[in-house]
Amino acid sequence: MRFALRNGFRSRLQSRRTAQIAATVLAPLLALGVVGPLTHRAAAQSHESAHPRHLSLDAVTAAHTLPNGLEIQAGSIQSGSIQSGSAVMQVTALRDDLLRVRIGATGTLPEDASWAVLPASRTASVNVKAENTDKTVGFSTAKLRVSIQRNPLAMTVTDLAGNVITEDIPDHPIEFHGNEFRIHKRSPEDEHYFGLGDKPGPLDRRNEAFTNWNTDAFGWQESTDPIYKTIPFVLTFRKGIAAGVFLDNTWRSSFEFNKELRDGYSFGSEGGPLDYYILYGPAPKDVIQEWAWMTGATPLPPLWTLGYQQSRYSYYPESEVRRIASRLRSEHIPADVIWLDIDYQLKNRPFTVDPERFPHFDQMIQDLKAEHLHTVVITDLHIAKLPNAGYKPYDSGIAGDHFVKNPDGSIFSGVVWPGPAVFPDFTQKSSRDWWGTLYADFVHRGVAGFWNDMNEPSVFEVVSKTMPDDTQHRIEEPGFQTRTASHLEIHNVFGMENSRGTFEGVLKLAPDRRPFVMTRASYAGGQRYAATWTGDNSSTWNHLRQTTPQLINLGLSGFGLAGADVGGFAGSPQPELLTKWLEIAAFHPIDRDHTSMGTFPQEPWENGTTEDLNLRRKFIETRYRLMTYLYTTAEEMSRTGIPMMRSLFLEFPNASKDRHPIDLNTNNEFLMGPDLLVAPSPYEDMLDNYDAVLPPVGWYDFWTGKRIANKGQESMRLGNDNIPDKELQINLHPSVDTVPVFARGGSILPIQPLVQSTEEKPAGPLTLRVYPPLRAGNPCEGSLYLDDGISYAYQKGDYLRLKFTCELTPTGITVKVSPREGSFTPWWTQFSVEIYGATKPAASVTTASGPVTATYSSEHQRVAAIVPDDGKGLNLTVTY
Ligand code: GLC
Repeated sequence: MRFALRNGFRSRLQSRRTAQIAATVLAPLLALGVVGPLTHRAAAQSHESAHPRHLSLDAVTAAHTLPNGLEIQAGSIQSGSIQSGSAVMQVTALRDDLLRVRIGATGTLPEDASWAVLPASRTASVNVKAENTDKTVGFSTAKLRVSIQRNPLAMTVTDLAGNVITEDIPDHPIEFHGNEFRIHKRSPEDEHYFGLGDKPGPLDRRNEAFTNWNTDAFGWQESTDPIYKTIPFVLTFRKGIAAGVFLDNTWRSSFEFNKELRDGYSFGSEGGPLDYYILYGPAPKDVIQEWAWMTGATPLPPLWTLGYQQSRYSYYPESEVRRIASRLRSEHIPADVIWLDIDYQLKNRPFTVDPERFPHFDQMIQDLKAEHLHTVVITDLHIAKLPNAGYKPYDSGIAGDHFVKNPDGSIFSGVVWPGPAVFPDFTQKSSRDWWGTLYADFVHRGVAGFWNDMNEPSVFEVVSKTMPDDTQHRIEEPGFQTRTASHLEIHNVFGMENSRGTFEGVLKLAPDRRPFVMTRASYAGGQRYAATWTGDNSSTWNHLRQTTPQLINLGLSGFGLAGADVGGFAGSPQPELLTKWLEIAAFHPIDRDHTSMGTFPQEPWENGTTEDLNLRRKFIETRYRLMTYLYTTAEEMSRTGIPMMRSLFLEFPNASKDRHPIDLNTNNEFLMGPDLLVAPSPYEDMLDNYDAVLPPVGWYDFWTGKRIANKGQESMRLGNDNIPDKELQINLHPSVDTVPVFARGGSILPIQPLVQSTEEKPAGPLTLRVYPPLRAGNPCEGSLYLDDGISYAYQKGDYLRLKFTCELTPTGITVKVSPREGSFTPWWTQFSVEIYGATKPAASVTTASGPVTATYSSEHQRVAAIVPDDGKGLNLTVTY
């Protein structure tokens, strides 16, 4: 069961709503025992406040304006009259398109602090214009209007054109029950919800309910909730307008959509601050960029992390690692990374190496390096409890007082992989700094990246699977009062602070290299420190299908550098499933094959025929040919927060006729970057044909280069912009041999020669695949970003940026490349320009230096020419 109504809310609900709702919604929950007494955990809260047991903010009793917003006092209505209350609510504008709402039940606002929101953003403000009437108090910014109805209290936020962005439910307002609170918002039936991190299930969160409590969820399924992460950020989308809501609360929180009330959604928490943000688009990309402005973007990753990665639990001994490495090379499977899971350690003790299994660990790392393979090692957070054994992580942690404690002051210990273990106090800066120093050895020995697993934190042998609620953590963080906090407050942010300690520590140890950290648990903003993956999925077709909504929602929640265990973690895939998974994951941000212990071998050459191996290799090779494009997309993400893997509505918010998210019409499609649409069959083991949707811009088959000519594309080409949704469809035949991929009309894709790893210098020209737009005047563009792939020299100008454009002319097409920006010198000296959609050979191809020889392929409908690149730009004209 995903969500439990608390009894406080139940009584409120019953007094407000019809018996019918009570009967249909509550009776089954009561029967299941889901609606229970108020949590006993309240007693454990260190942050105990004097909140009244039941308080609803029904009416405004006093209001005063602030330069950047307003503050009101609110009371409840009892027996028809307003009871002046001590609740205080502050609404402020951080930007013209971004509001913050803070509410305190007992006269003071919650602590002005955040783990997620960057201090400069949290404290930003713009001036607003007060707008008060008899019935309302409010203000406007240059983009939004906030209006709070005095009685009954209800806040409405609109854009200046009057479109409702978010609206409180007037007869169901803000409620407190002890330390718990809940906010109810209206949910028009055509509003859709995305985000909330890694939660499984459909892409659209509508009609679902979720709890946020980071959980080690081995073998999770589509309906499992919660799993590993807490990202209480929702992107809303209605009629082409996007907005967002972020509840900045690390306690056990919950969101429910259209469950408690058909026309409402709500969010709340068991404790902690009532502090939430409202983000306004109108474009979905605007909301994503605001989210990145608030919580930071994924930093530019090292280039090698976009390569193919080989893992399993676990490769050992050393000879096995070497065997895998040399097989990758002898099979010509391009690859960049080998992962070492827990078995490389001595008795699963973090920061050790088993000298028997890995007698030449350093030499092995150097040998892998020579093969252009990076080593990533797991470094779990649980430190083996080994007093007087010369185990440095334990001894130095004890000496520095860096471990989480029980209420009586003793050190908390719980059983995990190494047996009894202790847990660093990651919310304390000094403890994170100490944690960072533990990486010195590995960094100096040439380990390239680090894996932070089990950081929900996972604890074995206890029903809760984690620490007790009353475990004591120390907070030492700007914005927060320096204080101790119970595990209830820290649990959901623990994994993020673990990865923060790793990222910052590794950066300090090697300041000129971009760290690579992979975390399993995290909180909003965790993308600043680590990439992530979807944890212990299963080797089933359903789990492969689940990768699309899950990775898209992670991306919309800030985590754009993410992957799912390719082939599935639990269980062993059928050969076709492994093939198909390797095919599709070639278009995911992170492409890491990983499986559990005890399963069949899952490397690309295992578990299949030669044909399977060839297909698997072909798709990984395609990924490497697309590497410059992938890296360009990752660089865009590092500046804007726009994820590498995208929902269709992110790029095409107006694609459907009534402007609902077009993804709801698709079966399992996604975009890699702005220009590649991947349309796997919805159920990979099905035999029937299926329909995919192509947004209205014109598309080309990525594999053949041929223009897609369905009815909708054809009428668009003839000038019709009003295409019924049905005509955007294309009927596809599922086959293990391929995955349908389409290139956007009006795009220019950089493609590079095949290499076996990103360390290898590509040989030959850079290919520019030009996919002309459907009609003259339609946009046609592309870009390329490149640098040394590893250091921070790009921040000092040592990068290369190119912009590409094309334009249809009455007689053909012109293609332009901008002069080079930045000082980085690329590997190529020539462009191979390929222009698709050509139904006949070119009559002439010319550049500023004169005519150029071109070839024509009728099979690919392509005109191609090789031209020198002197860095000063290109202007190439084709006439037919
Ligand atoms: C957890 C991780 C998994 C890893 C295993 C052993 O289950 O999710 O990826 O292989 O622990 O470390």
